[in-house]
Amino acid sequence: MAAPAGCCGLEVHVPMGEVLTVQGGRPVDGTVAVRGAKNFVSKAMVAALLGETPSVLRNVPEIRDVTVVTGLLGLHGVDVTQPDDGVLVMDPTDVESAHVADIDAHAGASRIPILFCGPLVHRLGEAFIPDLGGCRIGDRPINYHLDVLRQFGAVVDKREGGIRITAPDGLRGTRIDLPYPSVGATEQVLLTAVRAEGFTELRGAATEPEILDLVAVLQKMGAIIGVDTDRTIRVEGVERLRGYDHRALTDRIETASWACAALATRGQVFVRGATQPEMMTFLNVFRKVGGEFDVTDEGIRFRSPGSRLRPLALETDVHPGFMTDWQQPLVVALTQADGLSIVHETVYENRFGFTKALGGMGARIQVYRECLGSTPCRFGGAQFRHSAAISGPTALRGDDIVVPDLRGGFSYLVAALAATGVSRVQGIELIDRGYERFAEKLEALGADVDWTSTSSVPPARGRVPAHV
Ligand code: EPU
Repeated sequence: MAAPAGCCGLEVHVPMGEVLTVQGGRPVDGTVAVRGAKNFVSKAMVAALLGETPSVLRNVPEIRDVTVVTGLLGLHGVDVTQPDDGVLVMDPTDVESAHVADIDAHAGASRIPILFCGPLVHRLGEAFIPDLGGCRIGDRPINYHLDVLRQFGAVVDKREGGIRITAPDGLRGTRIDLPYPSVGATEQVLLTAVRAEGFTELRGAATEPEILDLVAVLQKMGAIIGVDTDRTIRVEGVERLRGYDHRALTDRIETASWACAALATRGQVFVRGATQPEMMTFLNVFRKVGGEFDVTDEGIRFRSPGSRLRPLALETDVHPGFMTDWQQPLVVALTQADGLSIVHETVYENRFGFTKALGGMGARIQVYRECLGSTPCRFGGAQFRHSAAISGPTALRGDDIVVPDLRGGFSYLVAALAATGVSRVQGIELIDRGYERFAEKLEALGADVDWTSTSSVPPARGRVPAHV
């Protein structure tokens, strides 16, 4: 069995409970429906805390991250109901403090609690944030978040097991320059500034489509927010916000993941719900590699031409660049391209750990500390193996592999589909965090898969209970 992935001193502990057995070697062919973006839905749920009336979020996927945030809202007195499939109603009328131990027990694997800070301080005058989890793809510090909160006037008190945030003089608008266009820190500013006293100007903001959808939600709630083309966001704080009614934008990471499955297996997938504007950068790369696609009002059909794929050089970047979360399934597809591809990861320092197990399946991937690509990045000169050279085409063989993290894990499924023979993919409950009903979708695409659980503890399925 391939060793669990991980490098740079990071240990990856993967629960061995759930195993997906994949008989690979046949092209995927069919339709999958993709719903709201994981990296937007969870933030929109946090935004509901800021309103004085209930919020309605639509197009919500059944993923574990939604279950976690539902639970966290419930702990803070927000009444969350699911009147219909994909619809959440969140009533924040009785927001209250949660017990620290409960937050900790609940939030273990999620980084979302850090975004509760601003809304909770506005509502209750304080917030307690436990130590954060999330995928192990680098150090993933929260220094930008804490610096930003301090600039709003918050007092950050580090304690054992977490951080207590208070604001004795209230939260006040401020001028912030982010050292890097961090998605989370930008969301932190938005969720705090909308009800802070006075004006906030944020320079160097991230402008991912999920962030712009959060801006849309906040505007529906009564916030006043302007987004300039030079990464400057301006917020005029208001005293009160109301609930919103909003349909989440489609998950562009899941869309690209299925597209890469089509490329790697020489098949075709119609992704129902996929929209072109958020996918433009990916679509250009998909075409350069040799894939074909048709955009319709209902979604996007991704096809492999059947002939050899073309290699390419690219680097991941913040929006509008090529997403870091698109990188892993694309790397698997590039193992089937005719020649040498280069991928330079510039967002996270440690996002190639997953390639080790691919080597065991027959892929030829070498990772380097150097910035391979046109633009040196902030990791250049450090010890991080953040560039990959992928030689193709290589025939992939089935293997026993252990899921290292969410995106790396899905890319293993793509590799297993493309490989000849049987693969046993262990720890697939990590994939449940961000891919809705993926085993059912694989079956709908004609894949030969079998899901077994070796754990005595039944795994969460990412379903949102009707009433929490
Ligand atoms: N960073 C810091 N300090 C901070 C915050 C970030 O140094 O306080 C660094 C990070 O270590 C990283 C870079 O800034 O090197 C970018 O991190 P960012 O804050 O943009 O990422 P994030 O908000 O933690 C979100 C998504 C990630 C996605 C990134 C980039 C969520 C819940 N997570 O993370 O999604 O890769 O933005 O687009 O929205 C995933 O879905 O699998 C995933 C990891």
